[in-house]
Amino acid sequence: MSVKIAPSILASDFANLQKEIEMLNASETDYIHVDIMDGVFVPNISFGIPVTEAVNRHANKPLDVHLMITNPDQYLSAFKEAGAAIISVHYEACTHLHRTLQAIRQLGCKAGIAINPHTSVELLKDVIKDTDLVCIMSVNPGFGGQKFIEQTYAKVRRLKEIIIEQGTSTEIEIDGGVNQQNAPLLIEAGADVLVAGSFVFNSADPIETIKSLKSL
Ligand code: DX5
Ligand code: ZN
Repeated sequence: MSVKIAPSILASDFANLQKEIEMLNASETDYIHVDIMDGVFVPNISFGIPVTEAVNRHANKPLDVHLMITNPDQYLSAFKEAGAAIISVHYEACTHLHRTLQAIRQLGCKAGIAINPHTSVELLKDVIKDTDLVCIMSVNPGFGGQKFIEQTYAKVRRLKEIIIEQGTSTEIEIDGGVNQQNAPLLIEAGADVLVAGSFVFNSADPIETIKSLKSL
């Protein structure tokens, strides 16, 4: 099965968001990655629930919502209502992660955990059965266009082993600094979903860029 591609609209032209979504609809995009930043969990503010809802009105691909926020529990149902198909919360932002993952599934969404670069995949062993996706951050969250962290490959390989050991169908997603050079190595290590922001939206032909990542 080919790798899934999840372009991050953080790198899109917000003044032409409808056009950008229509472009993604016409491409081989698998998920539309929606980066929510609250200025507290991460040192940046992106956009929130009304913008997610507006994106969903035009999108014909599932929304993969990445919550870089504190107290995500408080907003899960609002993001479900806004159109999220997948909701990922940060391991580092959840005191009762098991409960949060269950709450996401109870809403009818797929449940994801995102982990910062400093967080070991070993910490996920006790909750992996409660996940549909793990998002390994390959940059420090908060900004697009940062440099890929090389340690990510080893994390992907180890997480793949844990998933196989436990027999779950959890997808491994990589988020941050993904490009044509590291994508084949990530796929080889076991990545199922590649998020790509600036690499897609700053390219001359985003539809073609998505196609070329997908064909790796
Ligand atoms: C970083 C976000 C990423 C980001 C990826 O905080 O979670 O999804 O938009 O952007 P690029 O691909 O430009 O690193
Ligand atoms: Zn993201």
